[in-house]
Amino acid sequence: MSTTPLKTAGFHHITMVSRDARRTLEFYGELLGLGLVKKTVNFDDPSAYHLYFGDEAGRPGTILTFFEWPHASKGHWGVGGVHHLALGVATPEAQLKWKRRLEDAGVSVTGPLDRGYFRSLYFADPNGQILEIATKGPGYAIDEEADALGRELLIPPAERLPGGRDEAAIAATHPEPVPTITADMRLDGIHHISAITDDLEQAGAFYENALGLELVKKTLNQDDGKTKHYFWASYDGKAVAPHSAMTLFGWNGSTYHARPGAGQTHHVAFRAESPDQQEAWRDHLLGMGLNVSPVMDRTYFESIYFRAPDGLLVEIATDGPGFGVDEPIEKLGASLKLPAWLEGRRPDIERSLEPLAVEGQT
Ligand SMILES: [Fe+2]
Ligand SMILES: [Fe+2]
Repeated sequence: MSTTPLKTAGFHHITMVSRDARRTLEFYGELLGLGLVKKTVNFDDPSAYHLYFGDEAGRPGTILTFFEWPHASKGHWGVGGVHHLALGVATPEAQLKWKRRLEDAGVSVTGPLDRGYFRSLYFADPNGQILEIATKGPGYAIDEEADALGRELLIPPAERLPGGRDEAAIAATHPEPVPTITADMRLDGIHHISAITDDLEQAGAFYENALGLELVKKTLNQDDGKTKHYFWASYDGKAVAPHSAMTLFGWNGSTYHARPGAGQTHHVAFRAESPDQQEAWRDHLLGMGLNVSPVMDRTYFESIYFRAPDGLLVEIATDGPGFGVDEPIEKLGASLKLPAWLEGRRPDIERSLEPLAVEGQT
């Protein structure tokens, strides 16, 4: 049994629900420039695609996956659901290029808004999933010491709240069209995930005890200036790890629950470094009284599932073996991959799936 402390390094992946695999590939692959790192089927429903996007090797923290369910009804955010997914970008200049590229493609964009710790651009994918592109900096140490994050409730200054914002900066965009994604625009995986809870204190204790995340920022929702917005992350007392910030909007007592479906997040997955650590984690979660699934073999990682107190489905996935287990890293996503137990049904499965217009990694 592992003696490694049960502290996750951050997100492994996020899984969302879409209705149209081809449109998902166009939006996330072509428009946003993410690599298709695996084209497979939903292991529990092989008639539906399961598409994985990520960096060139599909590293944990960069992975976005989609269940493609053509008949899914439209979902809505609320308690127990994810409000939005933020992808990281290096600089404000590159963020403005994204604004121009998205708007030129007909996507409605809000921002960039100054959130203090980063700048945020908001838009939605074709199913309505709310997305954000957030700058890497200036970071969480702008209003408290880097080695003492999350201690005080920090009230956002007036210039970050409605009515006090720099409207000219929000209206700015890149002066030229951006038909090609330049190197500086590269999206660096999951910057943060923001969910909604009906009990901020209980949810926070859950993320701390179950996953070893640390409270790194206590502030208010900067769009209403009233409700609490807290951030948890992998934090060693010196710096917040990349790809690890889970933020919660505190709607304490609300009964406005998320409705699962298209345009919503199905679950969020955090990292375990090894199968041994995951086994220890499963025992720990069971000891907390949680209902935890058995370990599931997902070919590219092994998974366990459980729910946060507000209802959000949470997974812990192992870092390995990774996406190179059934095709070369330089050819990830090039062909339909099936787990061994479904290979015998390949002709039927291939017939039932709509061919995708774009083959291979973009
Ligand atoms: Fe955000
Ligand atoms: Fe998952």
